[in-house]
Amino acid sequence: MTRRAIVAANWKMNGDLALVNTMVSSLTNIELQDNVNVVICPSSPYLSELVVKARAGNLSAAIQVGAQNVSEHESGAFTGEVSTQMLKELSVEFVIIGHSERRSYYHETSTQVAHKVNAVLKSGLTPILCIGESEAERATEQTETVLASQLQPVIDEVGIEKFIDVVIAYEPVWAIGTGKTASSKMAQETHQFIRQFLAQANENVAAKVPLLYGGSVKASNCEELFAQPDIDGGLIGGASLHAEQFKVICSAAKGK
Ligand code: PGA
Repeated sequence: MTRRAIVAANWKMNGDLALVNTMVSSLTNIELQDNVNVVICPSSPYLSELVVKARAGNLSAAIQVGAQNVSEHESGAFTGEVSTQMLKELSVEFVIIGHSERRSYYHETSTQVAHKVNAVLKSGLTPILCIGESEAERATEQTETVLASQLQPVIDEVGIEKFIDVVIAYEPVWAIGTGKTASSKMAQETHQFIRQFLAQANENVAAKVPLLYGGSVKASNCEELFAQPDIDGGLIGGASLHAEQFKVICSAAKGK
């Protein structure tokens, strides 16, 4: 069985043109292990520049570009929104969907997240579907119920077979930007639960879906996390803004 590993950078509302340049030049001579994709997700205004710079540096094979959000609608009167077709036209290949910051600050529901995943898949882009529990939910042993309630609406809308083209990022909300990483044991147990949950619907698909861990991943903890059997890379926030540290994290990932 081969399952690719993915290391995705979520710059959030950070970075600038200078960081696009620094990142591209720093990744120029990156040595990746087998079957690894590196995806960089800057804010929308920088997508095009990143694609162009990666092409100019002959890095189109090594670096893929992702957006941090997209509209579930095809086009129309939705001021401020960006469509999947617009992203495609810019050669964007991935889209982060349902990040916990979007769920909490912009009230994205799991139903809306499912619509977005559907729109992304239909357009031929790859969704990075984010799920994760809050600290209170973990403390009251609701983690599995919460994750199931975030996954099921997407399975219901797109069908389990389509998950072959989905990447899932498990990001415990309490670990995002806090410096508190889930232990590799805890992360592995939760990833195993997610894979088993998918396997109830389709074992073959479940075995192939890349499951990324996110939440305070850094150069010092990535190796142990990525060594876990059900962890196929990471979604990296803060550490992805530092080119050298991000490079170390990318180099630690390996397809399984
Ligand atoms: P962090 O963010 O690495 O800064 O914790 C991860 C994310 O929110 O995707």
